[in-house]
Amino acid sequence: MATVAASSRLLEAYLQRTPGSRRWAERARGVFPSGITHDSRYLEPYPLYITRATGSHKWDVDGHEYVDYAGGHGALLLGHNHPQVVAAMAEQLARGTHYGSSHELEVRWGETVQKLMPSAERVRFTASGTESTLLALRLARAFTGRTKIVRFLGHFHGWHDHMAFGVASRFDGTPSAGVVPGIASEILLAPPNDVAGTRQVLDQPGIAAVIIEPTGASWGQVPVQASFLHELQRMAAERGIVLIFDEVITGFRCSPGGAQQCVGIKPDLTTLAKIVAGGMPGGALVGRRDIMEGLDFDAAAKSGREKVVHQGTFNANPLAAAAGIATLEIVGSTDACDRANQYAARLRSALREMIAAESVPWVVYGTYSGFHIFTNPQGLSITADDIEQCRVDYKVIKSADRATNHKLRIGTLLHGVELFSWPGGPTSAVHSDDDLQQTVDAVRGAIRLLKADGAI
Ligand SMILES: Cc1ncc(COP(=O)(O)O)c(C=O)c1O
Repeated sequence: MATVAASSRLLEAYLQRTPGSRRWAERARGVFPSGITHDSRYLEPYPLYITRATGSHKWDVDGHEYVDYAGGHGALLLGHNHPQVVAAMAEQLARGTHYGSSHELEVRWGETVQKLMPSAERVRFTASGTESTLLALRLARAFTGRTKIVRFLGHFHGWHDHMAFGVASRFDGTPSAGVVPGIASEILLAPPNDVAGTRQVLDQPGIAAVIIEPTGASWGQVPVQASFLHELQRMAAERGIVLIFDEVITGFRCSPGGAQQCVGIKPDLTTLAKIVAGGMPGGALVGRRDIMEGLDFDAAAKSGREKVVHQGTFNANPLAAAAGIATLEIVGSTDACDRANQYAARLRSALREMIAAESVPWVVYGTYSGFHIFTNPQGLSITADDIEQCRVDYKVIKSADRATNHKLRIGTLLHGVELFSWPGGPTSAVHSDDDLQQTVDAVRGAIRLLKADGAI
């Protein structure tokens, strides 16, 4: 557990408020490295332990209530425990959790995805976003007969060996700890938002696919412009390179048809997870029929190509299918995406106003149902517009001071708001006006505590 400086009023207050979480954190350190089960749940001195959640709120083991911006890592566009999703899961639970056989719900789930996602000519379910991006690369390589993959500096696509460097560190493309160098050398890192620089990378021989988060690195933390996506699509098509949109977080969130519907681009392949499985573990790869047919026994036999291998114990799990169908039906038939988008826009603007009044050089920005707080350690003179219009280098944004971000998150927890680790959050369709006001007050309260501690 990180040592807590006695002089920090902020951390003292956190220790006082969360003895139950502290006890669980101590116990967890005897089980898990760092006491956590996902790198982005790391928080100094220790994270909260949550005991229940509903709608846009959750409660910790010490009985405190929080406005939630973890949102199930972005999976919960409809908030926690949406009654229709819970009912669909309860019905399925009574029928069985895992048949290990084909079942009706998987077909209905796949058809629902096809109906909403413009590029989904064919669908393959997986168990996570990481599995979806891994499968996308394999299919693209099998289809093109090439091996190299282009991705963008700072963009996140899960944690397998192809993706585990050049996101928050190792921007030179060298493999991070434990990553197979031979795999890293097949990955070419392109500069985000730089057409000429990207063209140079795409001009190299042997490129099977280019993958991108279509609203920018880490859910728009480093935004990307739609014009860049259109240019990328053109450059990829000219070179016979498979274009992959990683819509693990943006899918069914920016709009029912994801970011691709918003920007009017049909990528060759699209990776999905999070919302697609309605808050349960699950993911999908969707895309062009001819590429997806790499997985098809008959098509492979007819074409004389070797079939692409893909298994997965929990693919199209019935419980995830029930939650996924219920969620996607609501997404497709209501204004859920718009409500989450509008809430985020109002929150960003209210936070900006408050931050200006507090005279700190922080920048609040984001697109769709996302907000990011850049704590601007160098006090650069930049605006939200500068970041959203891609005039700020990704390295500047990604190099925000970790200690300040942790203190900001602790400060907002003290005021009943849990930010996601960026810091910021995905918003949901069920965040309320009261949540918005509480969030603004919590960030203001955190700023004042940081000032009192001399941390900013
Ligand atoms: C854009 C993107 N791609 C891939 C992933 C990996 O998904 P998972 O955590 O389900 O493996 C994530 C997870 O946050 C993501 O945001």
